Amino acid sequence: MILCANFKANKTRQETRAYMAVVESFVSANDISDTIIVFPPFTALDHDPRNVLIGVQNAYPVQNGAYTGEIALEQLEEFGIKTILIGHSERRHVIGETQEQIAAKFRFFADQGFAIVYCVGEPLEVREEGDAALLSYIEKQFEGIDLSYGDLILAYEPVWAIGTGLTPSNRDIELLHGVLRGKTHAPLLYGGSVKVENAGEIMALENVDGVLVGSASLSANDFCEMIAQAAELNTEEENN
Ligand code: PGA
Repeated sequence: MILCANFKANKTRQETRAYMAVVESFVSANDISDTIIVFPPFTALDHDPRNVLIGVQNAYPVQNGAYTGEIALEQLEEFGIKTILIGHSERRHVIGETQEQIAAKFRFFADQGFAIVYCVGEPLEVREEGDAALLSYIEKQFEGIDLSYGDLILAYEPVWAIGTGLTPSNRDIELLHGVLRGKTHAPLLYGGSVKVENAGEIMALENVDGVLVGSASLSANDFCEMIAQAAELNTEEENN
């Protein structure tokens, strides 16, 4: 399993340090073999990770240069960051990144050998139009994206499920993940209102290889609890 914590614009550097101490101790004390990735804000990227990967929520696809307000490869290299989140719904719908910009970012960081967590997902009005509209919307989010990229992790995050407490039915998650599985060998994450109460159930679904967690990951204890649920699923699988 792969479990990602996306802090968004939450937590200070000091809070991130305290958080990492809890999660990293939990991972080593429990011999966790799942992949754990934390995406703190830029200001808290300077962490020397023990057993958890640190990823960046966004970066500009250049080595360095005149891009006010952005950070680029050079700054990431200083902190040894090799993992990036691309195509998150807030980048698409709040910040206004286009598919073209997202694809350029994907190509640049793939060329640099980054692990890329690439997010796709539909807004509510598209979901309400039915399965065909939904699939064609998601298909457009693959324009310019190399789904055979070896270090790709694909996250399905319906826009209407992010931060709302709403989630698709298990059937709908399995349906969409089944379609994604037909397109790529990449691990498939589900994201959107994942919390302690539903993480285990979601991770147990067919073609779900992990979760991308926003709000509920802000509590280190809750995130550790979700990691424990993933570990339990591994044990169940081994015993079957
Ligand atoms: P949420 O966010 O868990 O708060 O719904 C998920 C995400 O945006 O990655």
